[in-house]
Amino acid sequence: MSRLVAGIGELVTNDASLGDGPLGLLSDAALVVVDGTVVWVGPEAAAPDADTRIAVGGRAVLPGFVDSHAHLVFAGDRAGEFEARMSGARYDGGGIGTTVAATRAASDGELRDRLRGLVAEMRRQGTTTVEVKSGYGLTVEDEVRSLRLAAEVTAETTFLGAHVVPAEYRGRSDKYVDLVTGPMLAACAPHARWADVFCEPGSAHAFDGDQARAVLEAGRAAGLGLRVHANQLTAGPGVRLAVELDAASADHCTHLGAADVDALAGGTTVATLLPGVEFSTRSPYPDARRLLDAGVTVALATDCNPGSCFTSSMAFCIALAVREMRMTPAEAVWAATAGGATALRRTDVGRLVPGARADLAVIDAPSYRHLAYRPGVPLVRALELPA
Ligand code: NIG
Ligand code: FE
Repeated sequence: MSRLVAGIGELVTNDASLGDGPLGLLSDAALVVVDGTVVWVGPEAAAPDADTRIAVGGRAVLPGFVDSHAHLVFAGDRAGEFEARMSGARYDGGGIGTTVAATRAASDGELRDRLRGLVAEMRRQGTTTVEVKSGYGLTVEDEVRSLRLAAEVTAETTFLGAHVVPAEYRGRSDKYVDLVTGPMLAACAPHARWADVFCEPGSAHAFDGDQARAVLEAGRAAGLGLRVHANQLTAGPGVRLAVELDAASADHCTHLGAADVDALAGGTTVATLLPGVEFSTRSPYPDARRLLDAGVTVALATDCNPGSCFTSSMAFCIALAVREMRMTPAEAVWAATAGGATALRRTDVGRLVPGARADLAVIDAPSYRHLAYRPGVPLVRALELPA
């Protein structure tokens, strides 16, 4: 069964060979989908015949957002912590322990309902691929449970046993790293595609460069791809470690020195910026222009989590990137789609080209620019193609 999606006022393909500029823009466009895969893209006037036709009334269509960094398996609420930060309290990662206690105490059903609710909330806002991390269990059983649940909603599952040192290991962080790199990794690796670590010598709760290296090297030896929470609170070793170990992504990148930017520019590690975190922790934003001008591949993601940033809206992150980080609307939209796909080393999402997944998002507006131009307005949603 072939489906023609027609009446697309502006189509973002993210393929410069198909249309104008880096977004590969086409106007008055159409595309044909067969079995969930894009098989044809072009001007509507040249569209081939198809079995059925859906018209989107001149709206803009883009690839569904690829949210490459999210923590969605958790219980509890930290609105009070957010409120305290807005009155001057500092974020240091310590609140993660509050969520760990609530998550351990929750039933599978409670965690699953929360997780599915958040994934549905994302989809209603145009996100069609999401990475989901563990990291609020921090025992072998609770990390495996988190990853099993995550795998019910996405193929992009990330083992983050090294999120913080849990209370029962306080003062014995090396012993906890032994657990993470040993039995916990062995039990979790079958359920994960990626390994991640919160590398932050500036936090009393997170992991230093040597510990992060141990976690990442063990993850790689277990067959997992690598991602790093890097340089969020201070200019630590995380970014350079990520590039050295060819991690797919270094995430946060808020505090960078020249050596960090040079390293990113010389490697294939994507810099994933999470401006919702700076918004929600009242912190200075990362210098996106410096990264882009150095030729670094930049992605945008939500970091949706109950502590440092509880938004599920990629459109909000795009608006922040444009307003606060001086990315152009086109750069921000690319980063939230093709950039996120690159950060997950995926070529089947983030682009609307023949052979890609037919993950479409539609904007109730004539252009992608409205995502930043109309902040806070729920304009974008995943386009559900009837089965
Ligand atoms: O990406 N930095 C560490 N992890 C999350 C925050 C998680 C939390 O505060 O619960 C982050 O910001
Ligand atoms: Fe995170």
